[in-house]
Amino acid sequence: MVKQQVLESLVAEYVANNPRSREMFERAKKSLPGGNTRTGAYMDPFPIYISRGEGVHLIDLDGHRLLDFVNNNTALILGHANPIIVDALQAQLTKGTAFSRPTALEVEMAELLRGRVPSLERIRFCSSGTEAVLNATRAAKAFTGKRKIARFEGAYHGVSEYALISHAPPLGPDLGPAHRPRSVPSSAGLSPAIAEEVLVLPFNDATACEEIISSNAEDLAAVIVDPLATGAGMTLPVDGFLTRLREITMHQEVLLIFDEIISFRASRGGAQELYDVRPDLTCLAKVIAGGTPGAAFGGRADVMALYDPTSGAPKIPQSGTYNANPLSMVAGMAALRALTPAVYDKLSALTQRLGTALDAVFKEAGVQAQVTVVGSLFHIHFLLCAPRNYREAALDDHRLHRLLFFSLLNAGIHWSYGGNVSVPMETAHIDQLVSEVQTALRRL
Ligand SMILES: Cc1ncc(COP(=O)(O)O)c(C=O)c1O
Repeated sequence: MVKQQVLESLVAEYVANNPRSREMFERAKKSLPGGNTRTGAYMDPFPIYISRGEGVHLIDLDGHRLLDFVNNNTALILGHANPIIVDALQAQLTKGTAFSRPTALEVEMAELLRGRVPSLERIRFCSSGTEAVLNATRAAKAFTGKRKIARFEGAYHGVSEYALISHAPPLGPDLGPAHRPRSVPSSAGLSPAIAEEVLVLPFNDATACEEIISSNAEDLAAVIVDPLATGAGMTLPVDGFLTRLREITMHQEVLLIFDEIISFRASRGGAQELYDVRPDLTCLAKVIAGGTPGAAFGGRADVMALYDPTSGAPKIPQSGTYNANPLSMVAGMAALRALTPAVYDKLSALTQRLGTALDAVFKEAGVQAQVTVVGSLFHIHFLLCAPRNYREAALDDHRLHRLLFFSLLNAGIHWSYGGNVSVPMETAHIDQLVSEVQTALRRL
């Protein structure tokens, strides 16, 4: 009851502080369904509208400067409008923004990625993570001649048909037993056949995975996994889980696809470097495009040969007006070149500092919280112990998260269930967040 009153007053304060965003939302509703054109960007009662970004800050329509720990859902590892990216884009703008024939930039970018991720024997570019996942799963089916894909319950892999099975399904009996999750459509409009072609796996349960994979091996083309389960609550893999998954898939002649669209942020070579596991295919986006729309997928040369056009029509056509777009190539290369080992060390040290301090603040306030940190990513769960999979993570206290979200937003900090640290951040920014969380908890 007390919480409800606190929440109402926090939301009322937000509404009073953001009249221009509110007005823009009313206007948006006349042109966009529910004022929205990116599901995750919506927030109740209305989203903050951003006018610009500067380094570690977002500036909204009402003129607030918000310290940003979301960074366009992890994509902006160099922060907003970083001069390194701006210069690269400006130089390219005057040379042209898109061509119907290849540029040397895509070759350079592919070499750069291959230099960081040994499993990427061959790479192709596309415009979004959704497309990368769509292509990787299609390639797996074409290569193996099998029709099913397995994915982990609750994981987010974009909005292709396969990806929309059991992405964030509501908890309840429909989900089936924990060790045999059912395939549950997470969107209207999917073909009923899709649910039959998608197997759902429980994260961190290698025994159940082995049973499901081996009993379906004849039909199963690939297992796709976000190695850090970032969309399913960042329930990090337990010791040996990813290695075991690699062994099981290899043994059953099932391809293993790593969706590293977020996890690539965690180290120079992504989660596959951190956990020393070599997938057959990898999907990349966000960080690799330096804050522009761009993505890639790649992996084993024999699988990627399906896209090779040099001996007749390729087995899989993959055109895209903006594939390997020069703007995303130059922005991506600028970002990757700025991400030196020393920069990753700094990001990890700041994020560790943040994790340790938040942990202490929650303990001091008597709030049961689990703080998970990996690389420059951090996630908070208001739970008694660290969750190991989607179902455990989904039991989080979402109301408390909403309280904390508005408390922080009203105090000039943008985060959501945690967030990520960007390169321009310094100790003072980390300490500012910790101190505002402390203040918010005292108020609650
Ligand atoms: C792990 C993961 N996979 C796939 C996607 C889809 O990428 P995009 O939004 O570029 O289509 C996302 C986006 O947030 C993601 O986090």
